[in-house]
Amino acid sequence: MTQLCSLDGTPISRFAFGTMQFGGAADESASAAMFNANLDAGITHFDTAHLYTDGASETILGRLIKPHRDRLVIATKIGYRCPDNLADLRDAFDVSRKRLDQDMVDILYLHRFNPNLSIEAQITTLAAMQDEGAVRYLALSNFAAWQVMKAQAVAQTMGTRIDVIQPMYSLVKRQAEVELLPMCAAENILAAAYSPLGSGLLTGKYRTGKDGPGETGRLTRDPRYAARYGQDWMHTAAAGLYEIAQDLGTHPATLAVAWAAAHPARPAPILSARALDQLAPSLDGVNYPMTSELYRRITALTPTPPPATDRIEEHV
Ligand SMILES: NC(=O)c1ccc[n+]([C@@H]2O[C@H](COP(=O)([O-])OP(=O)(O)OC[C@H]3O[C@@H](n4cnc5c(N)ncnc54)[C@H](OP(=O)(O)O)[C@@H]3O)[C@@H](O)[C@H]2O)c1
Repeated sequence: MTQLCSLDGTPISRFAFGTMQFGGAADESASAAMFNANLDAGITHFDTAHLYTDGASETILGRLIKPHRDRLVIATKIGYRCPDNLADLRDAFDVSRKRLDQDMVDILYLHRFNPNLSIEAQITTLAAMQDEGAVRYLALSNFAAWQVMKAQAVAQTMGTRIDVIQPMYSLVKRQAEVELLPMCAAENILAAAYSPLGSGLLTGKYRTGKDGPGETGRLTRDPRYAARYGQDWMHTAAAGLYEIAQDLGTHPATLAVAWAAAHPARPAPILSARALDQLAPSLDGVNYPMTSELYRRITALTPTPPPATDRIEEHV
């Protein structure tokens, strides 16, 4: 894998932290507390996006990174609303840089596949930004594997490459195992895996019944997330993970993030929380000793997605 590093040559941290809550569920002081806790835990890769909290995420992150900039890897994303002209992509990036108060970001993602512009035109634009020194690593989020490889072929003709992708990946969202993660391992691409807690489901807080807290959170407040994690088997798996955590005397969030990191393609889970107390069990996952036996036990809680060839009898 390309060894991604910060400006001062520090290798990118094994885990990342996502700032989607900065300026939303996390006010400036909660954001600062989480930022510092991440640094204390050795996490130096921070993820934001043009889209998040109307720009507050980038603005707050920009203020926090100032004293540490050269040893950090800062990622943002543009293009979520699928513009139909390249000038909008450029403008969004300029606004993001202004909010971050940075001429350069380390990793720039296209936030999702945009059918309104050709891959060639979008990659040409990213490559030009890289030539200008405004971006160090090119990246794609929410792309299918064939879309990544098409983009990679275009990047290669320009003497550059896609170094990072950002797929959704957790114990209850394992589609990335079929094509994306094997592609990353084969093509030396870093997978920064988002929503490793299934947006909170895998903390066990939505358990119902006599011992369940039946807490509220993103899944009860936001219908998109309720739909994304609405299937019964996902909730059964979350309850199973809770039981394993009880057995081991740890928190299910600790196991969930350690499990996501333990895939053979070595994805970098993007941790996230709304406050320091929520973040603590995820940070405990950074150094959690995930044995192969425990990895198999947790993996067995959810269905393994069928292989791309559908020849399941050949996969044991
Ligand atoms: N590329 C993309 O399209 C994309 C999409 C989504 C996210 N991301 C990136 O990935 C990062 C992580 O995504 P995510 O926020 O979905 O990650 P996640 O780790 O799956 O979910 C985090 C959420 O879970 C809940 N939570 C966390 N710890 C908890 C605890 N100990 N107890 C109870 N609840 C807890 C909190 O939500 P509540 O308290 O509100 O329930 C928290 O905001 C984001 O910040 C962003 O940088 C990227």
